[in-house]
Amino acid sequence: MTAQEMKDELRALAAMVEGRLATIFADGGTPAPLVASMEYSLMAGGKRLRPALCLAWAELAGGTTAKVLDFACAIECIHTYSLIHDDLPAMDDDDLRRGKPSNHKQFDEATAILAGDGLLTEAFTLASSLELPAQRVLQAIFHLSTSAGPRGMVGGQVLDMGLTGKSATLPQLREMHAKKTGALIESSCITGCILGGGNSFDQARASEYGRAVGLAFQVTDDILDVVGDTASLGKPAGSDEAQGKSTYPALLGIDRSRGLARESVNQALAALDGLEHPRAGFLRAVARYILDRKS
Ligand code: IPE
Ligand code: IPE
Ligand code: MG
Ligand code: MG
Ligand code: MG
Repeated sequence: MTAQEMKDELRALAAMVEGRLATIFADGGTPAPLVASMEYSLMAGGKRLRPALCLAWAELAGGTTAKVLDFACAIECIHTYSLIHDDLPAMDDDDLRRGKPSNHKQFDEATAILAGDGLLTEAFTLASSLELPAQRVLQAIFHLSTSAGPRGMVGGQVLDMGLTGKSATLPQLREMHAKKTGALIESSCITGCILGGGNSFDQARASEYGRAVGLAFQVTDDILDVVGDTASLGKPAGSDEAQGKSTYPALLGIDRSRGLARESVNQALAALDGLEHPRAGFLRAVARYILDRKS
């Protein structure tokens, strides 16, 4: 599959996800100022990479996007909450996100904290309302909550804060990246696979692929913070250096960081060896795109 075909497929999956995200608070049970703040960040764009991975793995495993869509949206809610909180003054203190003022800049800090809390919790309402066998749904929710929580993303954000202003070792960076970014990307793949009906062999592939793509994704994020521009990124370039963040480029330089990201992408491709499903072509193209992305 060409890069352009992959982008078209990614756009189609993103449109499906956005169509559903736009309706989740339409039942009227949520205070309007909270809906405004949650939807401000949720509907601000974004690549929708994690839900697209979930949907693609679900199809690869034999399922349908329609049955898994709410779970994919749950993942995007968790991701968006993590961005809102990541930008707060007490964390990365960034004023721009997805090309717009960060949530706490547009509203205020208390509203941004609560919008994050709301999106995180809403994810579990969405995830637990799937019309699929309960055992599969439970297993997927277990993966999702473990990857987003203290053992995964939240733990990784704490490691990030602990390493800010210090020089990290390569194993420390690897662990931080695996947790703060890798875990949710890996669970996007595994949960899609589980919900689509994948067996334990398929799940092992999804895990291997997701872990490798997740590492490559954060290494590239660190590289883009150095070589990218604010307009294309939709978030402030140079933020990591300004804050003394421990990153791959800070430790290894740009070229070696690119080499490591490339190795990781090759591992992701190897995890798909022998698969001929049309979605396997998409997943291969996504892995390759991680290296070339500009935003
Ligand atoms: C940014 O994620 C935060 C990281 C974990 C690196 P994305 O680059 O996927 O952000 P959006 O969703 O496209 O805005
Ligand atoms: C993000 O890492 C990790 C999250 C879990 C949000 P970064 O702090 O590098 O993400 P950006 O660069 O602000 O998107
Ligand atoms: Mg951060
Ligand atoms: Mg940040
Ligand atoms: Mg970053």
